[in-house]
Amino acid sequence: MKNLSKVDVVLGLQWGDEGKGKIVDALCLNYDVIARFQGGPNAGHTLEFDGKKHVLRTIPSGIFHTDKINLIGSGVVIDPLILKKENDLLKQQGVDTRKNLKISNKAHLILPSHRLLDAAYEHAKGANKIGTTLKGIGPTYTDKTTRRGLRVCDAMAADFQEKYNCLKEAHIGIFNSLNFDWQNQEIDGMNPNEYETKWLEAVKELNDFDIVSSEHFINDLLRQGKRVLAEGAQGTLLDIDFGSYPFVTSSNTTTAGVCTGLGVAPTNIGKVYGVFKAYCTRVGSGPFPTELHDNCGEELRQKGFEFGSVTGRPRRCGWLDLPALRYSIMLNGVSDLIITKADVMDDFDSIKICTEYEQNGSRTPLFVSTEKLDSVKPVYTEMQGWKTDLRKAKQRPELPKAMQEYLKFVETQVETPITIVSTGPDRTETIF
Ligand code: GDP
Ligand code: IMO
Ligand code: MG
Repeated sequence: MKNLSKVDVVLGLQWGDEGKGKIVDALCLNYDVIARFQGGPNAGHTLEFDGKKHVLRTIPSGIFHTDKINLIGSGVVIDPLILKKENDLLKQQGVDTRKNLKISNKAHLILPSHRLLDAAYEHAKGANKIGTTLKGIGPTYTDKTTRRGLRVCDAMAADFQEKYNCLKEAHIGIFNSLNFDWQNQEIDGMNPNEYETKWLEAVKELNDFDIVSSEHFINDLLRQGKRVLAEGAQGTLLDIDFGSYPFVTSSNTTTAGVCTGLGVAPTNIGKVYGVFKAYCTRVGSGPFPTELHDNCGEELRQKGFEFGSVTGRPRRCGWLDLPALRYSIMLNGVSDLIITKADVMDDFDSIKICTEYEQNGSRTPLFVSTEKLDSVKPVYTEMQGWKTDLRKAKQRPELPKAMQEYLKFVETQVETPITIVSTGPDRTETIF
């Protein structure tokens, strides 16, 4: 078989919101194609440039570069109405997505009733709820796996309305069994009927886009020597198989997800850029060993603006967790680490890093399973803060000595090089 170019990957190594959008935007210049491979509008990827902030949900973070192809792959789940809103917003900013956005014919559709199901299941779980983004992600992937989901290709077919009604009826059956009063719920401030009308209109607008078989599309481009960057959503610790189950999302957020979500062979994966914050955050429920419930956690939240870009929920904050980072590096085969948001700790006198977990008197450098995560005690190393404005540094040698030592310490601990340092939210605040 002819040698193809490789697909490089950017993905999150923690519980999401590591700054993937910013990094993809900054790395974009080296690539021809940017492709999302999993997740959906549960993602909120923030890009900042020219003094403006943009949040992308389903559209890849290369969209502002008009010479780049942006692909929504088959592993992604799409809410046509949220996608339409995203497209409309971009149009107002002078970006016509109809020119450079391609959509997989196999991507599954999030129906309005999937969103209501998400709410119904969360409600039924009570205190044990996952704290989902209520975007219908879990129910849509469930219908994909049970082989009754609707795909973009179905939306193009003459019998779409019939198939839609059929799946909606099945969902109403579930609402009835849960005693869930679905007709009196709201979806994005609209009653379900109003949302459905707009949603069905948005489905028709999918026809305005180039609908492709992403697996052929990507492999053709690779054969032509084009450079492809795959953009992960969520984070490794939210992976359906290896994350802190059940407090996870419903897709494979790891490098393996690139293969299944785009149709790329494992042998065609190139560099894997793992993005991590210099501390940890998590939205929603689930274990978080290094979580801070004190002023320090609040300081991280305020200085780092740690509020969800999709839901506005305050993010839980805590110290950097190296057992978790080692685990994520292992699962993804990370070749390059990218650190973000260390600048949030510019004023800190000292900074803690969890190097190991302690449980029942013994220590381990390894991540442990969900049920044990709640009871482990983090073992910390305390490092001196740099007390300098990191944004001033334009090259790695210009970073303060204490920060250099901090980076070296992390690299040694996790045996992987940090090749990019992000010093602020703007595209230009990136040290390669
Ligand atoms: P994503 O989901 O991984 O793309 O991350 P989000 O966009 O949800 O959250 C990351 C937040 O941190 C956004 O508001 C970014 O603008 C911001 N950000 C990214 N990198 C940096 C950085 O190095 N320093 C600071 N201060 N903010 C950053
Ligand atoms: P980006 O791509 C942070 C979390 C939710 C919840 C769990 C399941 O911006 O990093 P879901 O709606 O997916 O069923 O929710 O996953 N979650 C995220 N947390 N960043 C995200 O995306 C997330 N997407 C989902 O808060 O705990
Ligand atoms: Mg985000």
